[in-house]
Amino acid sequence: MPLQVEDIQGILLYGYGQLRHACFLLLGIIDGDAAKAWLGTLDIRNADFKPDEIHRCVNIAFTSAGLRRLGLSDEMVDEFSTEFREGMAGTEHRQRILGDTGESSPDKWRWGGPRNAEPHVLLMLYGRDEATLSVLLSEQRLRLASFGLQLIEQLDTSWLLHDKEHFGFRDGVSQTGIEGVHTRTSRGNTIPAGEFVLGYPNAYGQYTQRPLVSRDQDPGELLPQAPDDQRRHDLGMNGSYLVFRQLSQDVATFWQYCDEKTRRRDGAPNPEGRVRLASKMVGRWPSGTPLVRSPEKDDPAFTSDNEFLYYGSGDAHGLKCPIGAHIRRTNPRDSLEPDPGSDRSIEVGKRHRIIRRGRVYGTPVANSMEVTDIVAAGDVAGERGLHFLCFNTHIGRQFEFIQRTWVNNPGFDGLYDDDDPLIGDRGSGHGKTGGTFTIQADPIRTRVTGMPRFVQVRGAAYFFLPGLRALRFLVSVGR
Ligand code: HEM
Repeated sequence: MPLQVEDIQGILLYGYGQLRHACFLLLGIIDGDAAKAWLGTLDIRNADFKPDEIHRCVNIAFTSAGLRRLGLSDEMVDEFSTEFREGMAGTEHRQRILGDTGESSPDKWRWGGPRNAEPHVLLMLYGRDEATLSVLLSEQRLRLASFGLQLIEQLDTSWLLHDKEHFGFRDGVSQTGIEGVHTRTSRGNTIPAGEFVLGYPNAYGQYTQRPLVSRDQDPGELLPQAPDDQRRHDLGMNGSYLVFRQLSQDVATFWQYCDEKTRRRDGAPNPEGRVRLASKMVGRWPSGTPLVRSPEKDDPAFTSDNEFLYYGSGDAHGLKCPIGAHIRRTNPRDSLEPDPGSDRSIEVGKRHRIIRRGRVYGTPVANSMEVTDIVAAGDVAGERGLHFLCFNTHIGRQFEFIQRTWVNNPGFDGLYDDDDPLIGDRGSGHGKTGGTFTIQADPIRTRVTGMPRFVQVRGAAYFFLPGLRALRFLVSVGR
């Protein structure tokens, strides 16, 4: 079934890479009817566009509390997934599996936690240049109060040179493609639409559970009929679940750690060793070149390469890219049981993928984004990090699975005491003080220990990104 691109919000299928300036507004709904009137005035960008033709755009998503404020009945909200309804900070169990403990625990968050005003709406604004975004932002902000909305948080973003994140590594190289939409991604990275867009067959060939309503609940027939249920209308169709985590990065501690662990016998710094260790932790060199392609040094020929496998590229044992590296954990490609190195292994991996749509925030410690300058800059004041946004249709089987079973799992793929060296929680929930990272080598592997937590959570929430017809339905509910 072809995707109904005109009914899907643009951010789900494309990252708006050409719209470098973005801002996220978290809003509270004070007056549901006024908020519905406001929704009716918004010009929400769908996914049917040519990148050169748009200069600014708006997309929107809601928390479960937000859907209730719009007047969705308990019966309808119950149709949404448990993870979404409970929320990211909803249960202690979820906090533990996500690693949201210690300094990252929800009661310390700036937004989305139990001590913060509850966000109901996420408004995503994008502009081609700063001036365009700033006009869009002030237009939106000016209207909020008169439509019964309260601004809870304005989350600004940045764009760093060479598409890097704050530690100094190129990000966004590996993109997950959707079957029938993205034709340039490799076979292993091209996933059935239903993994990201509700209402289409997923990696099991089935329809992921999603909100359906009875015909009576949709008297205006605004929603399409559910393809797998003749009696019900599809509120989920062409929508998705959006995971939003504000992740702050401690750049100085990250590079100090890599520096200390690679000093020469006489105590002198070892700049190449430092970059090498950090690259082993990521799985790519700062330029983006994957370690499986060039394990010994950065090679500018492969900076955008995403066609590699692990077993299939001669790295079954992690001698090129360590087993525990960030990219190998978050997308093990052909390393998964039951039959690593096979097509079946890749197919299993397709059940646990996400589409990343995040943006960096905060000023860089060095504008050049070169590692030497980042290290030389040292501890620069100010907060910086990643507004991590990703899409999936089954939060438990996709985002939460990655976070629990791969990122924070000390026993990942035969390891026994390592978590993700870049973003792992260091077992902080169990009173452990530092992480371990193993670098497989022949004849003897090396291990670095006492690794602090480099990334902390400052705010987070699960949202539902509706299709455009579903949005019209939300505007009409109870009216
Ligand atoms: C501040 C936090 C983070 C930083 C600095 C970071 C950094 C990076 C970098 C440098 C890459 C390599 C570039 C690329 O392949 O596109 C990458 C890839 C990736 N990251 Fe992260 N990341 C962060 C958080 C996360 C989180 C929370 C998740 C999911 C739970 C995640 C999932 C992924 C995935 C799926 C890939 C692509 C792997 C592949 O397909 O090979 N990242 N990240």
